[in-house]
Amino acid sequence: MKKLLLLGDIHANYPALNAIEKYIQPERFDRIINTGDFTVYSTFPNETIQWFRERKKTICILGNTDLRVLRILKGKKLKRPKKDEKRVMYFWTSENLHPENISYLKSLPKQTDFTVGQMRIGLFHGTLDDPDEELDPSVPESRFHKLADHSRFEVHIMGHSHVPYYKIVGGVHFINPGSVGRMFDGDPRASFAVLKIFSGNIAVEHFRIPYPVEKVVEGLKDQQLPDIYGKMFRVGKKLN
Ligand SMILES: [Fe+2]
Repeated sequence: MKKLLLLGDIHANYPALNAIEKYIQPERFDRIINTGDFTVYSTFPNETIQWFRERKKTICILGNTDLRVLRILKGKKLKRPKKDEKRVMYFWTSENLHPENISYLKSLPKQTDFTVGQMRIGLFHGTLDDPDEELDPSVPESRFHKLADHSRFEVHIMGHSHVPYYKIVGGVHFINPGSVGRMFDGDPRASFAVLKIFSGNIAVEHFRIPYPVEKVVEGLKDQQLPDIYGKMFRVGKKLN
């Protein structure tokens, strides 16, 4: 049996990542997967990236927030987001990332795939077709079927929607571990999943665990970043 730890949408929330590490002991896993969005909305992007850089057996891709940070670092204009209170989070991140962590982000792909046993697995931030597509269980089944129809993978691991779920459509296993560091559903606890693969079978287990949210709130205060983000982390909801 192979065991994969599924992480994603950490959004620089190192206290949440650290709580997961203590709870689950990542070294026991054959692979550590990250669906992207390492950065933005809390103040620990360096600690978060460093955590992956230090570990072997990781498979990581970039998310839309990481790509925007890299855009800023290239000196390009940031068209979106439009709201100042969101933009300041992107600019703060680009100004505070250490060079070796920037290099690491630059080395990562936008999507990738790998094989475990006989199982072909695709890793996407949004979906196979579009890194910005939000695929959650409220999306019509027909969309899942379309993705399954032209997929060469038995398993799709995705992030971006921040909605944890596991769904089998058209013979494809669609798995989203939810967001480690930025919850939208009113439950402020960190989300992640464990994927077990054994003799052609799959088992998925989702977890929600508490973490010291006040460390994130303090980090934001320290850096004089907009108060609204502290509130969001406390209630586990998107408020802007
Ligand atoms: Fe995200």
